[in-house]
Amino acid sequence: MQQTKQVQDYIRTIVDFPHEGILFRDVTTLFADPRGFRMAIDQMLHPYAGERIDKVVGLEARGFILGGAIAHQLSVGFVPIRKKGKLPGRTLSQDYKLEYGEAIVEIHDDAIAPGEKVLIVDDLLATGGTCGAAIQLIERLQGQIVSCAFIVDLPDLGGRKRLQEMGMNVHALCS
Ligand code: PRP
Ligand code: ADE
Repeated sequence: MQQTKQVQDYIRTIVDFPHEGILFRDVTTLFADPRGFRMAIDQMLHPYAGERIDKVVGLEARGFILGGAIAHQLSVGFVPIRKKGKLPGRTLSQDYKLEYGEAIVEIHDDAIAPGEKVLIVDDLLATGGTCGAAIQLIERLQGQIVSCAFIVDLPDLGGRKRLQEMGMNVHALCS
């Protein structure tokens, strides 16, 4: 009997991208499939049914695609957290370490009002460096983070533990 395809079945792995030794979990194949993409958005939203969310924050770059769809579904605003130098207005900056490098992320300093309930969205949780920096930015704006939602968690890289130690609720569709 044919098994129904699950979210993880739409994700492909690219070996040695962007550096030797990295197994890159490529969600573009999931996004490109209408059934897969809808399933991912529906499942990412599922834990928050009935919960107040005022803003969805998406992390560059694939978090924009997911976060935009989720914000639209919830009829709430979307806020991007971008790599340094991309946002045109006044920003707050936060540096962080990646699985393969270092970076700085930014948010517009007026993007979240104090007390707003925020859902953070990205495609993948690895070391938690990117999301950790996002959490710091949102907390500096006094946003209240409801949860951090991902498609993929790479548990060996410790991101979930790191975010939970920051007091976060973490959801991922697969690991
Ligand atoms: C990937 C991924 C997450 C981050 C996760 O983005 O989309 O944002 O890495 O890694 P971490 O948990 O170790 O921080 P990447 O930094 O490759 O940037 P891109 O989305 O701009 O390609
Ligand atoms: N970001 C950090 N590590 C990654 C991986 N292995 N696959 C996709 N995105 C990533």
